[in-house]
Amino acid sequence: MRLTLSILKADVGSIGGHTKPSAKMIDATKEAVKEAIGKGMLIDAYVSHTGDDIAILSSHTRGPNNTDVHQFAWDTFLKATALASKDGLYGAGQDLLVDAPSGNLRGAGPAVAELEFDHNVVKTNRVRPAESFMMFAADKCGPGAYNLPLFLGFADPMYCAGLMLPKLIKGFTFNIIDMDNTQGDSIISLNAPEDYYRISMLLRDNERFGIDSIVSRTDGEPAVSVSAMRLHNIAGTYTGKDDPVALVRNQGIFPAPEELLSPFTKAHYVGGDARGSHVMPLMPVPINTAVSGIYCLPLVSCTGFSVDATGHFSGNVCDFFDNPAWDLVRTKAQEKALAMRDQGWSGAAMLPYHELEYSGFRDTVEGLMKQFAIRDGHTKAAVPAASGR
Ligand code: 13P
Ligand code: MG
Ligand code: MG
Repeated sequence: MRLTLSILKADVGSIGGHTKPSAKMIDATKEAVKEAIGKGMLIDAYVSHTGDDIAILSSHTRGPNNTDVHQFAWDTFLKATALASKDGLYGAGQDLLVDAPSGNLRGAGPAVAELEFDHNVVKTNRVRPAESFMMFAADKCGPGAYNLPLFLGFADPMYCAGLMLPKLIKGFTFNIIDMDNTQGDSIISLNAPEDYYRISMLLRDNERFGIDSIVSRTDGEPAVSVSAMRLHNIAGTYTGKDDPVALVRNQGIFPAPEELLSPFTKAHYVGGDARGSHVMPLMPVPINTAVSGIYCLPLVSCTGFSVDATGHFSGNVCDFFDNPAWDLVRTKAQEKALAMRDQGWSGAAMLPYHELEYSGFRDTVEGLMKQFAIRDGHTKAAVPAASGR
């Protein structure tokens, strides 16, 4: 069968500030998902949250961008929003940016990551005798948060020794989106290993360029889908882009979990966190973790799934970062966070002007820009008379 995996994710309200959704919201989401499975729209699904974002992961046979599946997720997020509003939670309905999505959640606020592939898990299947994958979800960070770790996992044998094996040695195609191009989804396709430096040149800019998808060059099999999205102009303001999710298939013709996870030991600095406008390290955490760390410390979770012949998920999941092995990295992330916070708003601690997510910061600067005046070098006045307060 042609199987589709979809992650549809939104922040529709949270308790005590932007921390985590309420248990009622999660329960309602799980209930809605159960109904959708009962009706046969979805084969299976898994509901979790990372920080204040609820992620609905599902398997089905309807293909990516399916109107019914997207509409179902939208309606479910609306139900969770109603519960958040009733209980007076913070940011109720925050990511539902349009009145009604036109059959597709892309550009309507929620994050979308989807993969479709042939699913025939039998021992004799040379390409994919078993299907295992990981779901990444990150909160309080920008869309390019996965650029470095996914690049290292899929293109650098220092992290993924598997790339030196015959099954993977042809490398992977990186499809990269220019998120600042608001005309449409502007994508470039570059091949690792030969375009290694060119890919790095783009992916270094986490705020503008993001990995959209990765494809195996050996079998043409899709490996990765990331929710990195272009900016959308909704009601005159540019919105979107943050708290990305990713689907990553692993093992066999793809990197193994340890090869994909080892780059996360860096706790690399990413844009986002407090008011979406700072630079802080990305800390790996178990699923269903609230945001309560140092200055909105960005979080990433990773959950592993296996899929049986009928498209159902394994009865329980592997919560990769819920392990003492990651405690050291969590300590490192917090040390890196404290080091960055030592310099408050100065330089590298905050994002550059155009990336400040709260446009209010830019409004403040723009107000001040009107008060600058050119100093006349011939007079003695240190401050030009025209400069105001
Ligand atoms: P979210 O995008 O997770 O709601 O975070 C918003 C924010 O501004 C954090 O300070
Ligand atoms: Mg929020
Ligand atoms: Mg969030």
